[in-house]
Amino acid sequence: MIDILPERISALAPSAIQQALQQTSDSDVIAFSLGMPSENLFPISDYKRVMLDFWMPNSLQYAPPLENLKHQIVALMKQRGVNCTVNQIFLTSGAQQAIYLLCRALIDRDEVAVTDTVTYPGFIQAAHSLNINLSTIPVSFADGICINELENLYKIVPKPRFLYTMSEGHNPLGTSLSQEKRLKLTEIAQFYQIPIIEDDAYGFLNYQAVEPPLKSYNSDWVFYIGSFSKILAPSARVGWIIASENLISKLEILKESNDINTTTFSQRIISDFLDKNDFTKYFLYIRESYKEKRDKMVESLKRHIPKLVFTVPSSGFLIWGRLPLPINTTQLFWQALKNEKVSFLPGAAFGPSSNFHLNHCLRLSFSYCPLELIETGVERLARAIKNYTA
Ligand SMILES: Cc1ncc(COP(=O)(O)O)c(C=O)c1O
Repeated sequence: MIDILPERISALAPSAIQQALQQTSDSDVIAFSLGMPSENLFPISDYKRVMLDFWMPNSLQYAPPLENLKHQIVALMKQRGVNCTVNQIFLTSGAQQAIYLLCRALIDRDEVAVTDTVTYPGFIQAAHSLNINLSTIPVSFADGICINELENLYKIVPKPRFLYTMSEGHNPLGTSLSQEKRLKLTEIAQFYQIPIIEDDAYGFLNYQAVEPPLKSYNSDWVFYIGSFSKILAPSARVGWIIASENLISKLEILKESNDINTTTFSQRIISDFLDKNDFTKYFLYIRESYKEKRDKMVESLKRHIPKLVFTVPSSGFLIWGRLPLPINTTQLFWQALKNEKVSFLPGAAFGPSSNFHLNHCLRLSFSYCPLELIETGVERLARAIKNYTA
């Protein structure tokens, strides 16, 4: 076939997450690979009831963003310690679109953005598709981004256009930043005038008291991304950005060229769900359930894979671990999937550039797998590690 694709598109490769989604759809596989919410927690009967009310023309029409939903997001953000106005809320089709639109708005091709040495692959994908050059900032296994290194990066000319990071329930590290780091990070952003894109996709899923997002420390230099995917349903495809009204007017134009508007139907379902339910109670319920799964995985890992060094997350769905040499986790991924029917994601999937250390790391998600299968899955993984062949 004649190659009609430009080089930029030919070079794009599917993310490890997309590949894992295909590989682990086999129902015999115990999936620790994907950061998907637990299906048992979806409020199906509430959705069904709400949907019946919505089979009317104005739910099926193009429509401007739902004002009521924006008001509800303002109230939700208050719970996270962020004060914002309805005019600063921009609704998106999920956090992924929010990342993409912010990248389009804040940077031109061939310019530099900074991200953590291990970061969310969806951001790497967006950056690559827009020809953004990525510089990386080292992260510590225990407490995330190494602030001291950031200033050195910011002194380089031309200076980076933004930093993309996650302060809470980092994907894949599972870390949450200390108050001191949050403060310093926002001070540096202001000092060097380099904004932060704060991806808070897991921010509402905390298992102990946590610090408020970076956005609450410095409103002007942080663009905040939130999402209903992990707390209500990914298929709703509703997320939001909190930004200045100036930026929002540009994002509106970019979004129109992307998907016109966020699905009206989903916005209405979410808004109605928020109106009719006690959200604080709902949060307590889902947090409790995920905490139980986290604890089960932590306990099982300690018991069955003592040589795995790993973080215990205080928020989010993910545990990041490191295995001793010579285990290469990409090879282990295929062996574990084929021989033991258990999946995880290899560390190499999370590096914007190749990094030797990541080859021994792996990400385990405890959110999707039923509680009663977590220990069995960890036992399978332990067997795969024991029988690993290079
Ligand atoms: C850190 C992070 N950001 C963004 C997303 C995308 O979320 P959404 O479904 O809201 O597009 C994910 C999904 O896994 C994620 O882990």
